Amino acid sequence: MILDIISKKANNYELTKEELETILLGYLNDEVKDYQMSAFLMAICINDMSDSEVFALTDIFIKSGDILDLSFIDKIKVDKHSTGGVGDKTTLIVAPLVASCGVPVIKMSGRGLGYTGGTIDKLESIPGFKVDLTEEEIKKQAQDIGIVITSQTKDLAPLDKKVYALRDVTATTNSIPLIASSIMSKKIAGGADKIVIDIKVGNGALIKTIEEAERLSSLLIKIGTYYQKEVRTVISNMDRPLGHNIGNKLEVIEALDVLKGNAKGELLDLSLKLASEMVSLGKEISEKKAREEVVENLENGKALNKFLEFVKYQHGNIDKLEVDAKVYNIKANKNGILKDINALAIAKLSEKLGAGRKDKDDKIDYNAGIVIKKEIGDKIKEGDILASLYTNIDNKEFNLERIFEIS
Ligand code: URA
Repeated sequence: MILDIISKKANNYELTKEELETILLGYLNDEVKDYQMSAFLMAICINDMSDSEVFALTDIFIKSGDILDLSFIDKIKVDKHSTGGVGDKTTLIVAPLVASCGVPVIKMSGRGLGYTGGTIDKLESIPGFKVDLTEEEIKKQAQDIGIVITSQTKDLAPLDKKVYALRDVTATTNSIPLIASSIMSKKIAGGADKIVIDIKVGNGALIKTIEEAERLSSLLIKIGTYYQKEVRTVISNMDRPLGHNIGNKLEVIEALDVLKGNAKGELLDLSLKLASEMVSLGKEISEKKAREEVVENLENGKALNKFLEFVKYQHGNIDKLEVDAKVYNIKANKNGILKDINALAIAKLSEKLGAGRKDKDDKIDYNAGIVIKKEIGDKIKEGDILASLYTNIDNKEFNLERIFEIS
């Protein structure tokens, strides 16, 4: 039976929901083996899925675990998701911005793996910050201050977790239907009413082309419609890192800088865009009107105060945010114009400095990371500092090739 299902997909026939359930629930219960699931996932990568197969797959993922009930909050709950990028600390900026406008943000976030960072690691780099809240604590905090970011309390979409771990090691991560059902199952199980999804495109992202991003966007919106959840997507560039700081504590510092009104550029622009979309959905107002509120709360300090209130409520001590690491400066070896900063190469370097995990049980160094000192288009003189590396690893021979393109 399992072989028939794999072979049906390999021959590009549409599967029924029952057939999808048979193979996927079999995998959850360890009756279907990793090698069988790998062949099945590869058949999906090659032959794609119809919309009804994608809806069925999403449903099977959702029902494999708990569904969070946030109905105790009588306002519209809007969640945000990013498909993952280098230096992406927008949640730290957007969540307090949105909450300061009166739209509740109750967010389950994850840890980083490989080159992608995770919001929970970033928050945990704040001394004392408590990331694992109980359901009672989540409810109380949501009612008291309207913003909660916590690691997963319940087992949300455990089948997606198991399938994702296998996709990661079988070159099946970049299938659009698999990505769409994976993201949407977690968001729906997480109790969101409406969802904003930041689709990253570029060499530092899972999605490499605008065409793929547009297809993913349309599929995410379709799945949302199927579940009567409004979904909006934003497509953003990930050929270059987002902002200047990469690495957990360094990213919190940069997010704080944005909230203090000290930053300009792509990170600020994207944060304002995502926050405006979320407030527009949460308050059912136009994006233009929402943007006015968001910008006002950034400028009058309400968003910053909401962030500080949130960190304090979860026992973090923001005053103790010194970066405890040795610093190595990378200097330019020629004159010219800075043409490019390669996101993927930066991510690999950051992992080598100690900021990322190769394996999910690895310890990471919250202090490690990179601060980029120059902008694309800047005139560079030989000897200028391009970036500072923060690390507690003694090897100074880090591979810096192909990170900065100067010509
Ligand atoms: N994010 C997810 O949660 N799942 C994917 O498959 C890709 C990005």
